[in-house]
Amino acid sequence: MKNITVIGGTGMIGRPVVQALHDAGFEVTAFVRDEAKARKLLPAGIHYTVGDLRNVHDVDRALKGQEGIYLNLNLNLPDGKHAWHAEREGIDNIIAAAQKNNIKRIAIISSVVMNYQGMNGFNWWVFDMKKEALEKIRASGIPYTIFYPSTFMENFMTTYRKGNRILLAGTSHHKMYFIAGKDYGQQVARSFALLNKEKKEYIVQGPEGYTADEATDVFIRNYTREKLTISRAPLALLKFIGIFSNTINYGYNIIVALNNYPEKFEAEETWTALGRPATTLADYARTVS
Ligand SMILES: NC(=O)c1ccc[n+]([C@@H]2O[C@H](COP(=O)([O-])OP(=O)(O)OC[C@H]3O[C@@H](n4cnc5c(N)ncnc54)[C@H](OP(=O)(O)O)[C@@H]3O)[C@@H](O)[C@H]2O)c1
Repeated sequence: MKNITVIGGTGMIGRPVVQALHDAGFEVTAFVRDEAKARKLLPAGIHYTVGDLRNVHDVDRALKGQEGIYLNLNLNLPDGKHAWHAEREGIDNIIAAAQKNNIKRIAIISSVVMNYQGMNGFNWWVFDMKKEALEKIRASGIPYTIFYPSTFMENFMTTYRKGNRILLAGTSHHKMYFIAGKDYGQQVARSFALLNKEKKEYIVQGPEGYTADEATDVFIRNYTREKLTISRAPLALLKFIGIFSNTINYGYNIIVALNNYPEKFEAEETWTALGRPATTLADYARTVS
């Protein structure tokens, strides 16, 4: 396989995957809404096709002559359950266009923490949506690769951060095997090189397990660009504000799931097949300092 179209390549975890596929020698095309914005975020030497996932004709045009597709989708945070979402309605357009264009492999990033659905009475429409997206891909008849990553180290530079503060909420009860986007991208690239017609699902975890508090401590001690402090928000407050804000409601639910999901190390098989992630959280903190 030589040609891969990445949908969602400008996203936080899309970017390191585009970089790794490009570094591994694939001809990468990014399907983007805003080419000028994308060119600032993605490496030189990749191709662009401009379109919107809401439009099946855009997706159809983008997939002509392509062999593989990699999906880095998410829900549109400010919008609620009943709005259009890339990971729900967008998937329908992608599968229709992929079938029409004889795509040989669909690879998609999902999430290991969605296995928290149903535990301790937890029930969140977002996890149902993510599971339904995978069911549609499994039923498409196209060979697929599904990745279930643990938490990405990149959150320490984005979603966990407000200025020089790291935001924590509630109590993190279990260790999460933090993974660097770069290591994950390399695993994705190896999977495209390795697989032929197989249907594969991989747990993606990094080399060390930490609770959110332990990980924050490691990150702060090794991040030298500025002094970081910790801010703690009461979960009850997030739950309350979440009544008025879909974005805060998302934050509340994902924190509850992450704090309580009893993640176990399960990535041995992935490491054997796709390579062992080398980046520790301390390495990552030093690299982004
Ligand atoms: N954060 C973690 O620790 C973690 C852990 C495990 C799994 N994951 C999974 O990783 C996935 C990706 O996360 P992320 O943070 O990279 O997401 P993200 O930054 O929100 O990226 C979403 C991408 O989708 C694109 N997109 C959205 N709507 C589109 C449309 N209508 N047409 C074309 N493109 C559209 C966006 O393009 P624009 O640039 O144009 O907006 C962007 O490139 C999620 O499914 C998440 O569950 C994350």
